[in-house]
Amino acid sequence: MKHQISRRLALRLGLAATAVGAAALAGLPLLSRRDMLAQARNQPPQPLPVPEQLLGTLKDGVRHYALNIRPGSHQFVSGITTDTFGVNADYLGPVLRLRRGETVRIAVHNGLKEATTLHWHGMHLPAKMDGGPHQEIAPGETWTPQFEVRQPAATLWYHAHPHKRTGAHVWRGLAGPIIIDDDASSALPLPRDHGIDDIPLVLQDRLFGNDGQLLYIQSMHDVMMGMEGNIPLCNGRFMPMFEARRQRLRLRILDGANASFYAIGFSDGRAFDVIASDGGLLPAPVRRTHVLITPGERVEIVVKVGNKPFTLVSGAGLRNMPLHTFLRIVPAPVLESSPALPGKLVELPPPDAASAARTRRFDLQMGMGPGMMMGGMMGRRSPFAINGKAMDMNLINEVIPVGSTEIWEIRNTSPMPHPFHVHDVQFRVLSRNGRPVPAHEAGRKDTVLVDGHEIVRILARFDDYPDPKHPYMYHCHILEHEDAGMMGQFTVV
Ligand code: C2O
Ligand code: CU
Ligand code: CU
Repeated sequence: MKHQISRRLALRLGLAATAVGAAALAGLPLLSRRDMLAQARNQPPQPLPVPEQLLGTLKDGVRHYALNIRPGSHQFVSGITTDTFGVNADYLGPVLRLRRGETVRIAVHNGLKEATTLHWHGMHLPAKMDGGPHQEIAPGETWTPQFEVRQPAATLWYHAHPHKRTGAHVWRGLAGPIIIDDDASSALPLPRDHGIDDIPLVLQDRLFGNDGQLLYIQSMHDVMMGMEGNIPLCNGRFMPMFEARRQRLRLRILDGANASFYAIGFSDGRAFDVIASDGGLLPAPVRRTHVLITPGERVEIVVKVGNKPFTLVSGAGLRNMPLHTFLRIVPAPVLESSPALPGKLVELPPPDAASAARTRRFDLQMGMGPGMMMGGMMGRRSPFAINGKAMDMNLINEVIPVGSTEIWEIRNTSPMPHPFHVHDVQFRVLSRNGRPVPAHEAGRKDTVLVDGHEIVRILARFDDYPDPKHPYMYHCHILEHEDAGMMGQFTVV
């Protein structure tokens, strides 16, 4: 397989040795991957946890859901118990299953001792229902957003988004998948049996102390690089196993890490088909042997199972890259048949850049000097900014007329790659350094990687929900960068 990822990106690929290095420098006793493996070998093989689906209940034309954010205690590997947060669970949360055209109402209860929020990443909805830093839920309180699902079938996700504490709360476990269904996707012969041939996979990594507890930001290094762990997790488990019963599996993969990039592929180098990006199905399946995902991004892939066990990994076939195992897939002795993958999926006209009313520029800035870093540490001046400004809750950075289409030009002025995310919209990526992007990145997106010193142009349409008071966010999805200020606010008016 050809090495197609720049060295800069390869250095960012998840499960960095640097995380361990930094923590070791801080003198912390760590639980190593080797300890975890040894612990795992002492236990019977652990099945992949498949999050339950929350289907809601229909009352007077509105579908009601209840989510309970709470502390938990969880075994990432059997025999080691860790304090966590979760949503209706000890760690992570259920699949929030929505249908296009329905109006939904979600009661989100905060059972923690501290304030938090729950944001619907990828949803097009009114800003005050968005669950960003302005929709804080006090301990013991319930927040009940209501909105109509006005977008195509897709795999989205929810996660905590409190001001300056998003990283800490997501690290602890406050995240879960959202799946939207619609008629177009239901009509396609795609794997759709939840937990059987259609499986959401939340990929993460975490750093553990040798007391089994999660370690978070130990040094300025963890802020500058983003918080990376050394233990790979799939749906909150270390190297779980899934028994495949059908010929084809649809994996809805989320990079739910705080900072790590994953070059997803299979241990044996087999090809698979990418069928969806962040915001929904692609026009046609795209055949790949690996695909890079960065924090916040999703891909849906369909893979043929065959008759030998194989593993979902990060870094397969990439030179100088350690191989990390997320999931072991073991075929059942006899596989049930699956329909062939259709050659065409959905209509998705190419983006019409000529329809843009204007171009807005966003410079992603990361001060690298020791003075900046110290200033950031002391809370005087953040080393992280967009267009010269660190996130300020009281500042609306951009005001966008409702119904307009815009080009956003995102310029990374730093050498470090940043995944850029915009709330409310699904955009299209027009170009990266002036060149078109590969087919699997050309569909509907809400998060896009901007490599070091790269310029990425995106096209977005800001329909519906004018509201001069409540802003949406745009930010780097490396959560430590976001919390440190690489975020801004826009209103649609
Ligand atoms: Cu995934 Cu502002 O969020
Ligand atoms: Cu978001
Ligand atoms: Cu960043």
